[in-house]
Amino acid sequence: MKIGTALTQSATKALLLGSGELGKEIAISLQRYGVEVIAVDRYQNAPAQHIAQRNYVIDMTDAEAVKQLIAKEKPDFIIPEIEAIATDALAEIEAIGLSQVIPNARAVQLTMNREGIRTMAAEEVGVPTSSYAFAETFTELKTAVDAGIGYPCFVKPTMSSSGKGQSMVKTADQLEAAWDYAKSGGRTDTGKVIVEGAINFDYEITLLTVRALNQQGEVETHFCAPIGHRQEHGDYRESWQPQAMTEAALQNSQGIAYKVTNNIGGLGLFGVELFIQGDNVWFSEVSPRPHDTGMVTMITQRQSEFDLHARAILGLPVSTALDRTGASAVILGGVDAEQVEYTGLEQALTDPDVDVRLFAKPEAFVTRRMGVAVATSSTVEEAKEKAIKAASLINVLKVKRD
Ligand SMILES: Nc1ncnc2c1ncn2[C@@H]1O[C@H](COP(=O)(O)OP(=O)(O)O)[C@@H](O)[C@H]1O
Ligand SMILES: [Mg+2]
Repeated sequence: MKIGTALTQSATKALLLGSGELGKEIAISLQRYGVEVIAVDRYQNAPAQHIAQRNYVIDMTDAEAVKQLIAKEKPDFIIPEIEAIATDALAEIEAIGLSQVIPNARAVQLTMNREGIRTMAAEEVGVPTSSYAFAETFTELKTAVDAGIGYPCFVKPTMSSSGKGQSMVKTADQLEAAWDYAKSGGRTDTGKVIVEGAINFDYEITLLTVRALNQQGEVETHFCAPIGHRQEHGDYRESWQPQAMTEAALQNSQGIAYKVTNNIGGLGLFGVELFIQGDNVWFSEVSPRPHDTGMVTMITQRQSEFDLHARAILGLPVSTALDRTGASAVILGGVDAEQVEYTGLEQALTDPDVDVRLFAKPEAFVTRRMGVAVATSSTVEEAKEKAIKAASLINVLKVKRD
């Protein structure tokens, strides 16, 4: 492979569609190899835009806007960081061979809609999943639940992320509220919801899976050590690595992750979400890109999930080896504010085993992720405690206007 010089005619260019905290780290990893990064988001000064060589603010669900930008920039790689993208535009670009979509346009299309990825995994690949049905009316939803899905169940918009519009329904009288919430809380109203039977898991993991080229130029699949995490209101609060698992559960997890990512194809890192009970494993969903719970790898792996994504995309060798045990804890805004400042960094960083990333998002919301604390220790429990403590020492303060 050949890499050009950024900001010259020979530049190897990567266009990030979505410029959040995950995109920022992808940009840093790419820039370390001299790649020119163009950061796109729907608002100005998104995290990756702070460091990219060029920035654009566009509506990424607008196919014309996406195509125009790609025609202008002619990137070698298009790297989606979010789900809500005009996927038809990407499919067109891919078909004419203008740029390489990571991992490919079909992956972006499949994973932006729960119906696409669930149907592919359960029916095409045949991996175990929760029971599920899709419903376009409340009556269809009720019928599906009564016909076998039962309670408790999860009702989710087919197009949503970070738990938006999603609820767990414990009894029949809560079903209608869940329907209304799913219909109003999705990203775009596809007119459909998915209802899933609840899996009574012991724990859930993200299995970071990398498809990268080996020395012979063939695609090889690599797995990071499993990442455990805790979710609250559909968003993660802490993650840790490695999550202790039985050998059989790990084998089953890797088998499922292999099958699903192999069907998706392309190069890059994937976050495969799995539910584990004893030795049994169920597939939940997959991100064809770095995963928020994988931010822990910034302290646990020599090659973080962002480095792995960058390397795989560029056709470079990867190592998913775990370097040390660690954990991450998110720093939430805790306040709605147009401008914020932070205190407590010096206290949080007193412990040499701790590090903090502040994303520099221009605006804060109570539950918006503004930063993350990562920590390492000899045990997962200790690392988690350190990360949680560090995160709690960071204060997000509203800037007072004069
Ligand atoms: N069928 C299910 N059974 C048990 N827990 C579930 C189920 N679906 C979702 N959850 C819980 O809700 C979390 C978020 O669901 P997920 O489908 O991953 O939504 P999102 O796309 O918003 O991340 C999961 O990580 C898990 O903790
Ligand atoms: Mg999820």
